[in-house]
Amino acid sequence: MLAAMSSTTTSTRAPDEPVSFGARYVPRAEKGRLVRGVFDSVASRYDLMNDAMSLGVHRVWKAMTIARANPQPGERLIDVAGGTGDLARLWLKTAAAASRRRGGPSATAVVCDINEAMVRAGRARGRVGLGWVTGDAERLPFPDRTADAVTIGFGIRNVTDRAAALAEMRRVLKPGGRFLCLEFSKPTTAALAAAYGLWSKAIPSIGAAVAQDRASYDYLVESIRRFPDQATFLRELETAGFARATVTNYSGGIVALHMGWRI
Ligand SMILES: C[S@@+](CC[C@H](N)C(=O)[O-])C[C@H]1O[C@@H](n2cnc3c(N)ncnc32)[C@H](O)[C@@H]1O
Repeated sequence: MLAAMSSTTTSTRAPDEPVSFGARYVPRAEKGRLVRGVFDSVASRYDLMNDAMSLGVHRVWKAMTIARANPQPGERLIDVAGGTGDLARLWLKTAAAASRRRGGPSATAVVCDINEAMVRAGRARGRVGLGWVTGDAERLPFPDRTADAVTIGFGIRNVTDRAAALAEMRRVLKPGGRFLCLEFSKPTTAALAAAYGLWSKAIPSIGAAVAQDRASYDYLVESIRRFPDQATFLRELETAGFARATVTNYSGGIVALHMGWRI
């Protein structure tokens, strides 16, 4: 069991190699601690800030993601970097509706997040039926081939070694299982990019007003700016071994849903 749970994707990169943390570069070994600091700081106001920053639209993006995941009775989801559990909750709700229509066992969902404060905030919302695990996307604490679906929503951009995290998420999928990654991306028209650029400039001020935390939202905006565009990230999925990888833009590319399969 332990052997099956050990990561096959240990990074060989030097711990002092510079990696981006928002607008600055920090030693690779430092980034995880800094990202944890960001989410420690915002955890208690995270859900409120999501609504404020996206004007509630994050709920629609998440609903569309789970509609694409198409949960079936008895299936198991691992929601990586799952935060307070929005995607996992929607998975259970959608699968329960399918079970009521057609019968079959209940689906299950486990939220895995590196940050205990985010997990605590999710548990405090009383989201029944979800499993909660503290763990790093780069070293998932799950055996090989045990999930029917893996989701990661607005999490991949925070991970230090994306290739390691993608390999881990593929490792825990059963053959035939699907991977869905919802993330901020690049607007597809110049007009939308300009409007979105202006809105992004306002986000740190909203963070200061709502969460009393400008610095964390400065990081958020910069991490979005540095994340690769749709086509580049699609190639990363293919390199990680996901089959039939596709990308779907939502809200004109402000976010994108990348999907791939383990075959
Ligand atoms: C922007 S939040 C997204 C939360 C949730 N998925 C949602 O869509 O609302 C990003 C989450 O990624 C988590 N995270 C960052 N780096 C991580 C890592 N290496 N492994 C697992 N979780 C990580 C953070 O703790 C945080 O909860």
